[in-house]
Amino acid sequence: MSTLTFGENVFLQFYALEEYTGGIILAKQVIKTPDLQLKFNLLQHSEDEIRHGKLWIAVLRAFDAETLPVKGYDDSPEVNIDWFGALEDDMTMLEVLIHLHIHELRVPYHFERHGNWTSFNGIKKVLAQLIAEEASHLRWIREYLKSLLPVNRKAIYGYLNRAVRFEEAMYYRQMRDILRRHEDEPIADFCTLALEDMPKQRGFVDKYLYETFNYH
Ligand SMILES: [Fe+2]
Ligand SMILES: [Fe+2]
Repeated sequence: MSTLTFGENVFLQFYALEEYTGGIILAKQVIKTPDLQLKFNLLQHSEDEIRHGKLWIAVLRAFDAETLPVKGYDDSPEVNIDWFGALEDDMTMLEVLIHLHIHELRVPYHFERHGNWTSFNGIKKVLAQLIAEEASHLRWIREYLKSLLPVNRKAIYGYLNRAVRFEEAMYYRQMRDILRRHEDEPIADFCTLALEDMPKQRGFVDKYLYETFNYH
């Protein structure tokens, strides 16, 4: 198999990190609720994310990829591309789920763009599989939030506001940071496209939130 470029290796290790840290955070929410259906949904979602993490690890192993530091690819304090690591420990389950929902709205966009950009069929295949699997994650959280809306509108809107800003700021930071470090590599084109696409994505998120939760 051909060699992964350093920039694409960074992305894949970053995906793996996001998947299994997402799975861990979801599993941690289970102890915050007595609701059995909710516990089940959280564990199912967690299990999926852990499995996604394993899929990326398997891809990296197939490429015999160079290993990188555990937290993203740079542990220096001014750089934090670890999305889930940036969530606060004392967040309520509702706030965690809203942050995750906003994040998962972006995942299919980003993965589709990566799938069009990469030359490796093995990577295209995993990206397509994960895009398809995102639908059930978006669905159950959307239904849960809609069920809470009549009694918890104020809190939900407040969290949505924070989550949208957090997600956008993190994504800009991640893409700009990778672009800055790898500006002479092919991955730079991918990051540039991702950044150029941000206003369109913001429009999609705004429309979704308005149509789904009457939030604007
Ligand atoms: Fe995932
Ligand atoms: Fe997901």
